Parts: sequence; C-alpha cells; structure tokens
Amino acid sequence: MNYRHAFHAGNFADCMKHALLISLLRALAAKPKGFAVLDTHAGAGAYDLSSAEAARTGEWRRGIGRLHGITEAPLADYVALAGPTGQYPGSPSLVRALLRPQDRLMCCELHPADAASLRALFRQDPQVAVHARDGWEAVKALTPFPEKRGLVLIDPPFEEPGEFERLAASIGLLAHRFRAAVQACWYPIKHRAPVRAFHDALRTSGVRDLVAAELWLREPTDPQRLNGCGLLVANPPWRFEATASDILAALLAQLGDGEPGQGWTVLRLVEE
Ligand SMILES: C[S@@+](CC[C@H](N)C(=O)[O-])C[C@H]1O[C@@H](n2cnc3c(N)ncnc32)[C@H](O)[C@@H]1O
Repeated sequence: MNYRHAFHAGNFADCMKHALLISLLRALAAKPKGFAVLDTHAGAGAYDLSSAEAARTGEWRRGIGRLHGITEAPLADYVALAGPTGQYPGSPSLVRALLRPQDRLMCCELHPADAASLRALFRQDPQVAVHARDGWEAVKALTPFPEKRGLVLIDPPFEEPGEFERLAASIGLLAHRFRAAVQACWYPIKHRAPVRAFHDALRTSGVRDLVAAELWLREPTDPQRLNGCGLLVANPPWRFEATASDILAALLAQLGDGEPGQGWTVLRLVEE
C-alpha cells in the first residue's frame, strides 16, 4: 500500500469527485427518511495543506486553491463545505457534514495510519463507524443497508493492475445485492483505452441506470499522467445529468489551463 492521499488532497480530481458527491448527498437528503453512506476507501478524513506531503506535490494549488472565494452556484456549496484555506476535508468529513440525525456513515480504510486518523476524527461520533478493513470486501459485508436507501462511494487508489475490472465487478455485485443504492465510483483517466474497456464492460454487465461524468485537463494521451478523472454513478437522482454538467463546466472554467483537448462529458452508459 504505497498510495497516501495526503499528497493529493484537494487536487482537481478531489474537486470533481467531491463536488459531484455533495450533489448526490443533497438529493438523498431531500427526502426525510434516513439514509446510510458506505465510503469503502475513505482515506484519513481531513488534511493539512501546509503539511510536507501536500507541499511536495502542490497539487491542491491547481485544485481547491483556485476555488476559494467562489460564492456562486454551482460550486458555492462545495467550496463552502471544503472549508477555509490551509485545510481540506476528505470524503468522510464532507459526508459527515451533510448527515442529518437520522443518517449514518460507515468508513473503511486499510492503511493503519489513515485508519487511526479517521478513528480519532470520529471517536465521539455515534453516527459514524470506522472500520480498518478491506473496502472491496465491505461492499459485500456491509450491504444492503437496513435503511434500504443510501450511497456507496468506491474510491480506490488505482495502484494495482486490474482495478478497472475489479471496480466493474464490484458495481455489478452491489447492483445485484442492493438495487436501490446510489453508487459513486471514481476512476482515473490517463489514456482512453482502459476507460473505454471499463465503459464497455458496464454496458454489457446487465446493470441498469448508469451515468459517467468525466473531466479532463488535457488530451488523455500520456499514460503516465493523471490527465482527467471520472465518476461512474449508478442510480443517479433526478436531474443529475444536468446538475453534473453545470458542475463540470464550472470546474473546467476554473481548473483548466486551456491545454489542447481539455473537456468534460456526462455520458449515459445504460438507460434506467
Ligand atoms: C483515493 S484515496 C481515498 C480518498 C477519499 N475517498 C477522499 O475522497 O477523501 C484511497 C484510499 O484507499 C485506501 N485503500 C487502499 N486499498 C484499500 C482497501 N482494499 N480497502 C480500504 N482502503 C484501501 C488507501 O490507503 C487510501 O487512503
């Protein structure tokens, strides 16, 4: 396990994932009935952007660092929840901020240091459970939720070969076990071929109602670079495609440097 999110917290990929995640959670919270969230690869939960790790890559400067001060829709909600300059919340903190008393969060994190940080962050919190366990395995063990509604965020580090195949298999498994779950699954866009294969696998998986939202800062042709990223959403809420389009267009306007081939898309892979 080499991946540490502290080097990447608040980068463009976090901005994209978290801005869309917030819109999905807002839609769940529009109904009074309680929901649960499972964050399978949760990270440390909160990050200090003045740390040596964040300073070493400086990635946040081309991400959340460009968004502070935005008070207009569609990014204002995300920017406000991201908090003041110098810190950055991970997905568990963002989810926690949007839980109502009837909702709850389960987080899984395998790295011992990050799992310890998460535990410390939520020690006194009865609405949050932290598990130092394998998130892939938790997709089976912790679903379906007794609440019968909720969201599963799958955000693996993509440091091992076969992660796209594993993700596609997990989406299929979860759709079968817990049909009502909203799934939000992050993936990297380094070059097009693996993403095309992932989309093709999903189109033929039998899983219904799939949308892929993608943002890329340059033509995705260099397999060594994170040129863009995507969020695969299963069971998106009503109007998600329009909401996601607005968010991605606004993000690209702030985060893009006009490099050739930059862009975004919201693609319906499978109908309802
Ligand atoms: C991309 S980061 C997560 C970032 C976090 N979801 C956020 O948005 O703030 C991926 C995390 O998964 C953890 N991890 C790697 N393999 C795992 C596994 N099999 N189960 C649970 N966590 C894992 C890594 O230690 C890392 O902290």
